[in-house]
Amino acid sequence: MEVEMKSAPHNGAAHLNGSPTMNPPMWRGLIESYRKYLPVTESTPVVTLHEGNTPLIHAPRLAQVIAPDAELYLKFDGANPTGSFKDRGMTMAVSKAKEAGATVAICASTGNTSASAAAYCAVAGIRCVVLLPRNQIALGKLAQALIQGATVLAIEGNFDDALRIVRELCDTHPIALLNSLNPYRIDGQKTGAFEVCDFLGAAPDFHAVPVGNAGNITAYWKGYNEYFAEGRIASRPRMLGFQAAGAAPLVLGHGVDHPETIATAIRIGHPARAVEAVQARDESGGLIDSVTDQEILVAQKQAASLAGIFGEPACAAPLAGIAKLSRAGYFVRARQELGRKPVVVSVVTGHGLKDPNTAIAIGGEPIVAPATNEAVLKAMGF
Ligand code: F0G
Repeated sequence: MEVEMKSAPHNGAAHLNGSPTMNPPMWRGLIESYRKYLPVTESTPVVTLHEGNTPLIHAPRLAQVIAPDAELYLKFDGANPTGSFKDRGMTMAVSKAKEAGATVAICASTGNTSASAAAYCAVAGIRCVVLLPRNQIALGKLAQALIQGATVLAIEGNFDDALRIVRELCDTHPIALLNSLNPYRIDGQKTGAFEVCDFLGAAPDFHAVPVGNAGNITAYWKGYNEYFAEGRIASRPRMLGFQAAGAAPLVLGHGVDHPETIATAIRIGHPARAVEAVQARDESGGLIDSVTDQEILVAQKQAASLAGIFGEPACAAPLAGIAKLSRAGYFVRARQELGRKPVVVSVVTGHGLKDPNTAIAIGGEPIVAPATNEAVLKAMGF
């Protein structure tokens, strides 16, 4: 993997880097690793939790079931410090907010953005305010925002209402906006595409993501384009975006006023980056489709039980989508065109532990057994 490992300290832990006890040296976070591609200068204060460098996991057993004609890889961004891909954007957005002298930052969120914003603001010493749709946030995400010291406002409305308020407040008050409307978020998140290419040694043929507010599909497409323009990759993937059927404005071609889905992370009816998402779809020759909640839950269980990757429900949307495309012969055709199995990367955007209630609801009940060897063997079916 080719990344820049600079020796100049920015995070105060430089004495650890390169020390004989750490071999290889600790990953320094994505700003230091991809500095040349990011709008930072030597004087930008780098606010990092050493995010990025998340594993790209080959998942042949899962592929065998959901898309046997594809080589499937999972980009496990649930392995980021706060458990979601938002940390990629947040290290940039909070570093730039700190550079600009912000003392208060705000975001609307379906949960992960708020957890990430709270964490990075805690590091930076910036006050963090998060607006969440009341009763629609997965338990773990709410716990994160609260314990990390954010001012948490449960709004009696949905994400789109919360984002409208946040935008208006940032227009009229000196408050830093941490939603993906902030271009620095996109720059941070595009590093996910760099990592995929650096790990694979090439671009994948297809890149699948869940789509909510449409920042991440925008960011990945930007990242692939930048590597392509530099000649670091010879081709770009087709972008495959998936929304939940009850919250699928980009599939319907119009906003949805009352979005509904079990995948609360992507329960969004008016995506802020709708235009860019459609552009990514069209420029890449990809598609944006929807999957039902039932398909999402099946795919979530499959990813956990066939690939060992426990993502939250939203991350299962692209996996359900890949299965749907596979059933329609999409990857068979790609395989014929390429003369090999197409490489498909699907981003697992958030950790399953964030939403334990949904997992327990689909995971089933434990078998209760007396504390004896015989009872355990019997329960095992021996
Ligand atoms: N996956 C997860 C786990 C998410 O939390 C989100 C968005 C997405 C996918 C969709 O990404 O919005 O860039 O299209 N979560 C936001 C939040 C909205 O507030 O945490 P997107």
